[in-house]
Amino acid sequence: MEKRQELYAGKAKSVYATDDPDLLVLHFRDDTSAFDGERMESLARKGMVNNRFNAFIMETLQGAGIPTHFVKRLSDTESLVKRLEMIPVECVVRNLAAGGLVKRLGVEEGKELVPPTFELFLKNDALHDPMINESLAETFGWATSEQLAEMKALTFKVNEVLKQLFADGGLLLVDYKLEFGLFQGQIVLGDEFSPDGCRLWDAETRNKMDKDRFRQGLGGVIEAYEEVGRRIGIGFD
Ligand code: C5P
Repeated sequence: MEKRQELYAGKAKSVYATDDPDLLVLHFRDDTSAFDGERMESLARKGMVNNRFNAFIMETLQGAGIPTHFVKRLSDTESLVKRLEMIPVECVVRNLAAGGLVKRLGVEEGKELVPPTFELFLKNDALHDPMINESLAETFGWATSEQLAEMKALTFKVNEVLKQLFADGGLLLVDYKLEFGLFQGQIVLGDEFSPDGCRLWDAETRNKMDKDRFRQGLGGVIEAYEEVGRRIGIGFD
């Protein structure tokens, strides 16, 4: 497999073509962004930590029967993935109230959500990723109702697997965002799963151990990501 030209640079990852039209290289950079890219900073080790974190989670999910784009980790900061035709919709599940839900509905942060909630957002920075619903996604052709049903089922299946994985490490999986795409007509989990796209709290102290440390200027961002990784069995050295 040979890495070719850069196809796209997102806020934290760059995507490269390969000599195989079905495969891409994801490069996890040290860049960190918040508030739709309004705040950008480079955090040493972040690319390596998130690449290893994502590889571990994707392999765990794959092992639990969830189709993912992940093929293998290539280096400290690069992974090989299947090329998906991405669906421009973000799927968010919440187990505890935080972030956008607290802001929008005025519920208390940390309130347990039973059953967990499921929300859809349009992936569009210029519009600040507005909340949408299945009707809008169908009407505007972002996804079919069958695709949406499959994405929802897979997003909840991920919850069962990861809630337990993090609980075993003394962590609460508060919420997370997933993105899906199509590979040969099948809905497949794409993008990444790392502390950049989820909220994780220490189960005892409720300390934040995810990207909220960056968003809220709490410091110790990558140290917290590494601590989470260590607790679920990821080695970073
Ligand atoms: O901001 P909000 O509370 O709606 O985010 C819910 C979850 O989705 C959080 O874990 C957040 O990190 C993640 N998210 C994300 N990318 C976005 C929006 C939300 O990773 N564009």
